Amino acid sequence: MAYLGGKATGSQHIIKILNNKIFNGMPYIEPFVGYAHILRRITGKSSYVASDSNQLLMVLLKHIQKSKEHLSVSADEYKQLRLHPDIDPLKAAYAAFTYSYNGKYFAGYTGNSRFLANKARNYPAERKRYYNKLHDNETFSSCTLKTRSYNMYTPENTRNSLIYCDPPYAGTAEYKNSFNFDGGFAAEDFWNWVRSMSTSPANNFVFVSEYSAPEDFVCVAQQTKHQSIAGRGATRKREEIVFVHKSLVHTPEIAAVRQNLAKSYPCNKTRKSSSINKN
Ligand SMILES: C[S@@+](CC[C@H](N)C(=O)[O-])C[C@H]1O[C@@H](n2cnc3c(N)ncnc32)[C@H](O)[C@@H]1O
Repeated sequence: MAYLGGKATGSQHIIKILNNKIFNGMPYIEPFVGYAHILRRITGKSSYVASDSNQLLMVLLKHIQKSKEHLSVSADEYKQLRLHPDIDPLKAAYAAFTYSYNGKYFAGYTGNSRFLANKARNYPAERKRYYNKLHDNETFSSCTLKTRSYNMYTPENTRNSLIYCDPPYAGTAEYKNSFNFDGGFAAEDFWNWVRSMSTSPANNFVFVSEYSAPEDFVCVAQQTKHQSIAGRGATRKREEIVFVHKSLVHTPEIAAVRQNLAKSYPCNKTRKSSSINKN
C-alpha cells in the first residue's frame, strides 16, 4: 500500500541499516509509523514500540492488530465521517485512509468496486489485503502501538534504543495540513529532539529519513527516489537520505552500518535535490 512519501517501495537501504546484526537485541522504536511499511520488516529486536500522532491512523492500526474484519464506507458516510469523526472513530478511520484518495487523510472518496465498475483497481480492497498482511506479520502483531507525538519520547524515558524516524518531509504541502498536528510539522523542534535523543544521557541510535538536514547531521546511506506527482507521466527525482547525528559517527555501530552500505548506497555531496522530469 503506497502513498506519497511512504516507504512501501525503495526502502531496502533503510531495512539493511535497521536489521544490521549489530543492533540485534535492542529495543526498537518508530515514532512516525504511518502504514508500518518499515516496522513490519524489522527483525531481531528485544521489543517493538510504534506510534504516530494521527489519532485515526492509530485507531486503524490497533484494529488491524486485533482483527481481519474490515469496514465498508459509502460516499455519503465518508462525507459525514469527515465532518464528525468522533461519532464512530473506527469507521472514520476506514473513511480517512482506506476509502481516501492515495490513502491520504480524508483526501477525497475512493470507492469500492461498485463505484469503480469501469476502473481496473479497487483501492479499498487492495488496502484491506495489505491490512491482513500486517495482521499476520510477527513484528507488527507483537508491537506496542501508541497514539502520541514523537516528542513524548524523552531522554528521561527512552535510552539505549534503536529509533527510526520517517517524519513528514519538511516543506511538502501534502503533510503540512493533512495530519492532526497543529500548525504542521515544526522541523527545527524535531532536529533539536533528535540531537537530545542521540547524545548522553539518552544514547539512542536515532536514524532519520529526510531530503536534507542541519549541518551537524551526517549521511549514512542515500537512495534516489522517483516519485509520481500530479499530472500524467510526471515524476520527481529526489535524493532520500538516512541521517544520524555527528556524535554517533565514530561509534562501532555506525561504522559497521556505513561499511555495509557504502558501495550500494553511497552518500553524494549534494543534499538538496528536487528536479522535475516529464516522461
Ligand atoms: C512519511 S509518514 C511515515 C510513513 C511510514 N514510514 C510508512 O512507510 O508508512 C509521516 C508520519 O508522521 C506522522 N506525524 C506527523 N506529525 C507527527 C508528530 N508530531 N508525531 C508523531 N507522528 C507525526 C504522520 O501522521 C505520518 O503518519
